[in-house]
Amino acid sequence: MIQTQARIKVAIQKNGRLTEHCLELLQQCGLKYSRGRDQLIGYGENMPVDILLVRDDDIPGLVRDDVCDLGICGFNVLEEKRLAFASKGISKPFKLLQKLDYGQCRLAFAYPEGSNLSDASQLNGETIATSYPRIVEDYLKRHKLKASVVEFSGAVEIAPSLGRAQVICDLVSTGATLAANRLVEGETILQSVACLVQTPIDIPPEKTEWVNRLVERIA
Ligand code: PRP
Ligand code: ZN
Repeated sequence: MIQTQARIKVAIQKNGRLTEHCLELLQQCGLKYSRGRDQLIGYGENMPVDILLVRDDDIPGLVRDDVCDLGICGFNVLEEKRLAFASKGISKPFKLLQKLDYGQCRLAFAYPEGSNLSDASQLNGETIATSYPRIVEDYLKRHKLKASVVEFSGAVEIAPSLGRAQVICDLVSTGATLAANRLVEGETILQSVACLVQTPIDIPPEKTEWVNRLVERIA
């Protein structure tokens, strides 16, 4: 391990659809790292770069607080957190450096099969279940729709069967989860893909060389 220099921290998703792609990308950048079974840090052996494996929801905050220099997560998560920071008066919580070529999915409404709802223009007075309340509320506001939003942190597709909501707004990739839960896809409100972000704080001189090198290699 190179210990003489300041080490760069890159946050990625701990376990999920982006994890393997992110590790592969960093390896393709030439990074060799050691990581014990179940360890949440991968230590770079040939570069002063460490990989932090965290919940994807935590990545924007870790980057914004300069705990991690770089992060990779879905545009959906970045946008939800950007709106959350904006509501607290914090603008530009991170620098979006680059959209990557994996993790493509869309955030879309979905309606129960056989429902009398099939279009977002009918959402007035309805309840929408989602893990992305701020993005959905922003959409409703822009389209002058008055609907309630109920937050689920996962398994949103169950909400209509539970009678908790009439409509959901969730990520769709293949569409298999919607079909399995008898939901019909409606309007897409956000297209997403994995993104590389950097802390908004100026990178200290002792780190710039390796941050730039890594960002260039990722590009
Ligand atoms: C995501 C998303 C959908 C599903 C979409 O869930 O929330 O449920 O994947 O993928 P598909 O269109 O290919 O079926 P995930 O598996 O990440 O679980 P979670 O919702 O509980 O976080
Ligand atoms: Zn899901």
